[in-house]
Amino acid sequence: MITWRDAMSVGAPALDADHKKLIELVNFADQWVARESWPQVATVLDELMVYAQGHFRREESVMAALKFPETESHKKLHEALGMRARVLRDRFNACANDEDRRACGAILLKVLNDWLLDHILKQDMKYKPYIPKKALPPPSRGETELQIGLPPPPTEAEMVAERKARMEARNKDVEYALPPNLAHLLKRLDYVIPELPPPAKGFDSFEKLCLAAICRRVDKVLVFFHRHNPALKLELPTFFLASPEFAEKFHQAINTFIFPTLWESRQIRMLATSFDWASEDTDAFWEHVTRPLEQSILQGWTQAWDDLRLVESKKSDGTRVLQVKENTKALRDVLLPSDPMIYDIPKIGNREIDVFKSLLDPTNDWWATLNRSWRVCHDLYEQEKDPRIFQQKAREGAFRDGLLAAFNRFPPDWVDFMVLACHRVFPRISTTFLESFATNLGRSEAEREAHIPYTIRYLRQVREIPEIAARERMEEMEWRAKMKELSDFLAKREPKKP
Ligand SMILES: [Fe+2]
Ligand SMILES: [Fe+2]
Repeated sequence: MITWRDAMSVGAPALDADHKKLIELVNFADQWVARESWPQVATVLDELMVYAQGHFRREESVMAALKFPETESHKKLHEALGMRARVLRDRFNACANDEDRRACGAILLKVLNDWLLDHILKQDMKYKPYIPKKALPPPSRGETELQIGLPPPPTEAEMVAERKARMEARNKDVEYALPPNLAHLLKRLDYVIPELPPPAKGFDSFEKLCLAAICRRVDKVLVFFHRHNPALKLELPTFFLASPEFAEKFHQAINTFIFPTLWESRQIRMLATSFDWASEDTDAFWEHVTRPLEQSILQGWTQAWDDLRLVESKKSDGTRVLQVKENTKALRDVLLPSDPMIYDIPKIGNREIDVFKSLLDPTNDWWATLNRSWRVCHDLYEQEKDPRIFQQKAREGAFRDGLLAAFNRFPPDWVDFMVLACHRVFPRISTTFLESFATNLGRSEAEREAHIPYTIRYLRQVREIPEIAARERMEEMEWRAKMKELSDFLAKREPKKP
């Protein structure tokens, strides 16, 4: 039995009421199972499925209205939960005798209890900070009573009105009519954030599903780094991790060089017998992977990459040489861009192999954490470096400190890519900024290179093209002039003529 506690509140009374009703339904199912009243169990389960679907829809529209950045991934969780519950309900309905029903009912309740608590306390809590105080309508009368039907979902007109009210509240302080060249300071910075494509399903073999599920986990890191700002003119090709073409080639590399080693493990092949894999997708796959299996996948993955490492040996005269295996040469060919301007990748050595190794974490889906950290970087950037007029100004150095803090949150290899992603998206994160940022990470270039090798590699390329520094100086001057114009405007003075 679950008891509702105030700590479970997500801050929106209507959604709290939904959660209370879901808890109530699970508790009812619990009681009917204990009494072995099977027809009632079936009825409650049906009601639970219908109610949960309605709740998911309401919660998703609230998240979308709040512009909660993890709305899409949260929807995927709902889909997976719904599917899992349906499978269990169907299994229960298919039970032939009471003994089966008892066993099935016990599993079902355990799953429902865990699911409900885990989802409300961990996943739903993530949107709580986005709920404006008192902004959402209170639940309609009767919603918390068990015997009534579904509370009506908000109509499209209600949602539009709610969005409009929120926009108006936000813009209330912004009573300026800015000149057209400054108008963008009323909006958030604009750039491309690619969405993760939906998980794939319908595989005709378990092997293909495994491979696709592993590629998907890796994509959650790669696609994150695909963000870019088309308004920025960058002279040099992007770092490899940021290129969709690299992602495609990397899938091919996993398929050819890595997956065969993973597939040798009997444990992973055995997984095919423990769930109905043909109806699951590449995200749901990971819900069936147990702790020991996670370790076994990681072991296979690490082993396969380590097999591609360059081996140091000594020649007869004592000089050291690195031997490159045939497979590693083939890997280099696979990961080469179709055109050197599409992305930049060094000749693959042991450092690159370590980076590739870091891209799969069977124990952790990094998508949400990466996106949350990005939101912090974005806010700090706007506040400190390119202030919007509806925001407070951040203190000097806040953006740099935000980036440095990322070193504690991610595998160390990725911070380098985070720095380069900021350069690719934020207009004022210039190569001059990168040079000065790098000084935080070591006294000499060699020391800095140990922390952020790819940023240092990029800066070396930049130093060879003096036009880049000239362009950046120009842009910085334009930016300062614009800021001057803005402060003059806000001080209600006429802008000075140049
Ligand atoms: Fe919920
Ligand atoms: Fe939810």
